[in-house]
Amino acid sequence: MITGQPIDRRDGRQKVTGAATYAAEFAIPATVHAVLVQSTIAAGQIAGFDLAVAQGMPGVLAIITPDNAPKLSTKGGVPQAITQPALQDLEVIYNGQHVAIVVAETLERAQAAAAAVKLRYTEGEAQTTMEGALDQAYVPKNFRNGQRKPDSSRGDPAGSFAAAPVRIRATYTTPNEHHNPMEPHATIAAWDGDRLTVWTSTQGISGAQATLAGMFGIEKANVRVICPFVGGGFGSKGSTWPPATLAAMAARVVKRPVKLVLSRAQMFTSNGFRPMTVQKIAIGVANDGTLLSVRHDGISQMSMPKLGEFVEPVALATEMLYACPNLAVTHRLVGVNQGLPTYMRAPGEAPGVFAIESAMDEVAVALKMDPIVLRLKNYAETDPHENLPFSSKRLRECYEQGAAEFGWARRTLEPRSMRDGDWLVGMGMATSTYPTNQSPASARIRLMANGNVVVQSGTQDLGTGTYTVMAQLAADEFGLPIERVRVELGDSRLPSAPVSGGSQTVASVGSAVLAACKLARDHAIAMAISDAGDRWAGAKPADFHLENGAVVGPPGRMTLGEMMARRNVESVDVQGDAKPPGKDDKTHSLHAFGAQFAEVRVDSLTGEIRVSRLVGVFDGGRVLNAKTAHSQLIGGMTFGVGMALLEETLVDEATGRIVNANISEYVVPVNADIPVITAKLLEADDRVANPVGAKGLGELPMVGMAAAIANAVFHATGIRVRDLPIRLDDMLA
Ligand code: MOS
Repeated sequence: MITGQPIDRRDGRQKVTGAATYAAEFAIPATVHAVLVQSTIAAGQIAGFDLAVAQGMPGVLAIITPDNAPKLSTKGGVPQAITQPALQDLEVIYNGQHVAIVVAETLERAQAAAAAVKLRYTEGEAQTTMEGALDQAYVPKNFRNGQRKPDSSRGDPAGSFAAAPVRIRATYTTPNEHHNPMEPHATIAAWDGDRLTVWTSTQGISGAQATLAGMFGIEKANVRVICPFVGGGFGSKGSTWPPATLAAMAARVVKRPVKLVLSRAQMFTSNGFRPMTVQKIAIGVANDGTLLSVRHDGISQMSMPKLGEFVEPVALATEMLYACPNLAVTHRLVGVNQGLPTYMRAPGEAPGVFAIESAMDEVAVALKMDPIVLRLKNYAETDPHENLPFSSKRLRECYEQGAAEFGWARRTLEPRSMRDGDWLVGMGMATSTYPTNQSPASARIRLMANGNVVVQSGTQDLGTGTYTVMAQLAADEFGLPIERVRVELGDSRLPSAPVSGGSQTVASVGSAVLAACKLARDHAIAMAISDAGDRWAGAKPADFHLENGAVVGPPGRMTLGEMMARRNVESVDVQGDAKPPGKDDKTHSLHAFGAQFAEVRVDSLTGEIRVSRLVGVFDGGRVLNAKTAHSQLIGGMTFGVGMALLEETLVDEATGRIVNANISEYVVPVNADIPVITAKLLEADDRVANPVGAKGLGELPMVGMAAAIANAVFHATGIRVRDLPIRLDDMLA
């Protein structure tokens, strides 16, 4: 089997040598440059533009403002995107909103002219932070696209809480966070009559195609989206945000290809962020640790209603995490004068599991109980929310193997009881979970006359290894060495595939690739049987397989080359489709799980917090590539360290302006912050979940990490920090 092997990323060499072409690097002849101008107030109306100076500057081709911007279509069902600020009106609802776009012959000239654009405003009242408006929380109108309810409950949560012998109530908060992928958003847009081509950095070329077609009122077939490489997204490239639209708009105005690359600062106001949350948790528990009642009330920050709705679904994991008969969860929103939030790696689960798994640790402390024992006591054998069996669940083994690997047995129960000189040492753990998602996808297999195979799908490789794992799957299906399989993706002309979000690419696209492989194999075998005449008369298709470019049967073989020569064709192309079962046909609850362990050392004199060891053991389904899977795990755990200790977007309340819109002050972990990470996968080939057997690894490994670290900090110091990120000053309290 090639699938599963730790094969190097096929695009690794291209990437490290600079040969991989990212969106901004396509050399499109006659391209000119666009630069965005952004608002400097948080709320109000644009009273007017003073453009004379900018217009007179050398090389300026156009300055597009709401006064002269082409109108975008509201038809064609473009969710949210149309309502985001794309120069369609003069209202300002957040600081950093796009208010104009300047196009010039060179980037430097566009930047200079953009700096010379002057605006006059009629300033309005702004509510710039969520904390000041918590009393205005409202119920989401379209939670999870109507698939889930913002509030749910089972049993009698209030009565069972009141009757519980041990009760914990606590409020946890998480800040606004920005994705900060290495590659900024970038688009080159070119029109040929009514046909638009965009080279853009996106997690979803099919979504970009649909959105742009809707905005410009043209057929989807007339929009081509090209994106062979993505330098990270983490959710910020999941939707098609205004800059892609504005690049296409500018290209239409100046009748030249236009390149628009966001600056790092503009990345903080142009493509969403993880919204701040305030989460109240109430847990009632019996003296033996049995959960009697769980309540999780989440509030997350929204922008103005004009921009639609984004909810950070913090309490969905709480619904299914533990066996507890009495439970209630709610989700609320608070609108403020900031941009529209969006998905960021494990949206909902990352902040939500921080809260519930911190609270579980508080329960364990109150009961003087080992945190793992508490979790095992309340282990959910089936999904208590959906009332369905899990397709697979090896969480118990994750706890056991994680504890053994980490050396959990050495942990003493009392906080502040483990020391190493001046360092206070703490050990903490938390549970991780993430749903296994799948969306409809298609893939094409091209069997070539020389026996090679081409896999084609309009998916995208965010850097996670899609090119590599799809080749591995197909190589095994056709009995080929991996060198003889080529993978083509990142072009909307290829069979359509869903957004690479929700950790669903392997389950969705992999299933389509397997379906296409099977059809292609069946087709080749049928051709061979028909061509063989008497030789294979009466042979059954099941007696044949493909190997090294030939159909191999009982006995003998026939090459694809001979068969195609007889038909005078160069390839046989077959499309396969895969989709998940419908809602009513769902027989199992699909989730990945994990156990996260952290050891921290807190300097008893200075409060400095160091993460000294991390162990994660995950139940993530079948592993398609041991190396890329491991990379996803350690990357996700690292992301969790950032969430726990470093990441926070800060807003100046007076102006609504983000004050740390750069990567010198929006701090993410560097190598020196991260110890050696032990990350393990307990493989479970989960064919109930999907035909590939994978459960998704992109988001799972960051879930629970922040709680594991916060719990370790408490164990080290006796200080419970409920507000992320955990800071040195929290240790000096
Ligand atoms: Mo991910 S936040 O679903 O790109």
